[in-house]
Amino acid sequence: MADVFVFEPPHEGLKDSYRSLIHELDERGEPLIPFPLGFPNADFPGFLRRLAACSRGEGIPPGYVAHSTYWLARGGEVLGVSNLRHVLTEKARRDGGNIGFGVRPSARRQGVATELLRRTLAAAQRMGIPAAWLTCDRRNEASRRTILRNGGIFVSEELIPERGSVVQRYRIDLAVSGAAPRELPAPPGDPASAVS
Ligand SMILES: CC(C)(COP(=O)(O)OP(=O)(O)OC[C@H]1O[C@@H](n2cnc3c(N)ncnc32)[C@H](O)[C@@H]1OP(=O)(O)O)[C@@H](O)C(=O)NCCC(=O)NCCS
Repeated sequence: MADVFVFEPPHEGLKDSYRSLIHELDERGEPLIPFPLGFPNADFPGFLRRLAACSRGEGIPPGYVAHSTYWLARGGEVLGVSNLRHVLTEKARRDGGNIGFGVRPSARRQGVATELLRRTLAAAQRMGIPAAWLTCDRRNEASRRTILRNGGIFVSEELIPERGSVVQRYRIDLAVSGAAPRELPAPPGDPASAVS
């Protein structure tokens, strides 16, 4: 049977694969994006409980908001991780947006982020979020193109001094007639990827 993408909340079953994703990022000295990748996971059940609580809006530090984390897996391997903020703070509107996402380095340039963002937008829509706000560093061509591939409309850009770079902001409307975000063609070589 062809391997299909599975979009799901984190769970114990793919613990080792999740840890290997973090290991790949660490080995390359890459920042852990989205931010929950930085949550300690030595106690994996505790880590899962923490993520579930964040999704319910419990135990969130002041100034932060409820957020849900998702995995995109295929063939038992976690390929990408996304995080959806349920509401937008002023800080996130400026830099951070509703959704962050990252893909395992060895799985990049295969359409994984495009699919991961598409599924995360559908989750946002199911939550009743009328429009998703996404930000990216202007120099991050891969992120920018992933957003554009999912229907992102450029809104503004601004030099963020504390970041030392220009952040671009995009909007993706989700509420139009209750329609799902537009379907994208399956990534090359993965005819089953449209399965939700
Ligand atoms: C950004 C990131 C998620 C892209 O993941 P990916 O799975 O390689 O992306 P996709 O294969 O779906 O490609 C999406 C688009 O980006 C383009 N792209 C991917 N990598 C690229 C690169 N290194 N340089 C230029 N364009 C790139 C692809 O060609 C595609 O554009 P197209 O459809 O117009 O051809 C990945 O590089 C990553 O995890 N980076 C670190 C974390 C990060 O920056 N996250 C985004 C900020 S929230």
